[in-house]
Amino acid sequence: MRLQHYMAKSGIASRRKSESIILAGRVMVNNQIVDRLGVKVDPDRDIVHVDNRVIKMERHKIYIMLNKPVGYVTTMKNKHDQKIVLDLIRGVEERIFPVGRLDQDTSGLLLLTNDGYLAHRLTHPRYEITKVYEAVVRGIPNNSKLMKFRKGLKIDGRVTARAYVKVLKRYKDSSLLEIAIHEGRNRQVRKMCKYIGHPVIELKRISISGLALDDLPIGKWRYLTKDEVGYLSRL
Ligand code: URA
Repeated sequence: MRLQHYMAKSGIASRRKSESIILAGRVMVNNQIVDRLGVKVDPDRDIVHVDNRVIKMERHKIYIMLNKPVGYVTTMKNKHDQKIVLDLIRGVEERIFPVGRLDQDTSGLLLLTNDGYLAHRLTHPRYEITKVYEAVVRGIPNNSKLMKFRKGLKIDGRVTARAYVKVLKRYKDSSLLEIAIHEGRNRQVRKMCKYIGHPVIELKRISISGLALDDLPIGKWRYLTKDEVGYLSRL
């Protein structure tokens, strides 16, 4: 965006007034004085000083819930021609990013935002945010297997925190489990299920800290409501 626009959005002055501030040589972009009009800045990368003080644009914070389909990765860039979740969010100008990860082969609730602070609060293990998954696993785990889940089991050399697990449905050769964890280790649910001898066939995240996917169709997204954002910020 144009420098004077960026300055206006940062509350420095009107656009017109910002132009005269630029022409007066009072503005630096990335430590270089800019005293002509027409220069553009990238609000996410460039550092702008006015009278030797850094200025920051007031950002419009946005919060999105996506029902991620299997086959999409939660990285920002697509390496090796993979499909990325950002491809599913059209018409949003802000630079949003996924809050935490979901494996390519996992579906379900993914939050995206441009609010780094909230993203940190939702993903840092210290805050113990509960994430609930539905997992179709091979076979039907018995009680002693489920107890291992509840007590903690060793994956990647470290014991997991206590997890909640319940068998929701029993099929002939598989079962549907509800699993709640508050850590976010790499492929944690898959590794835990494998450990007890019931590998995951399908995995879907259905809620994060009580915020549920409900009937949002697969591949679709929506903005969080004001109440939902308020609730998350109070966690
Ligand atoms: N646990 C997993 O194994 N995969 C996910 O995508 C999320 C949690």
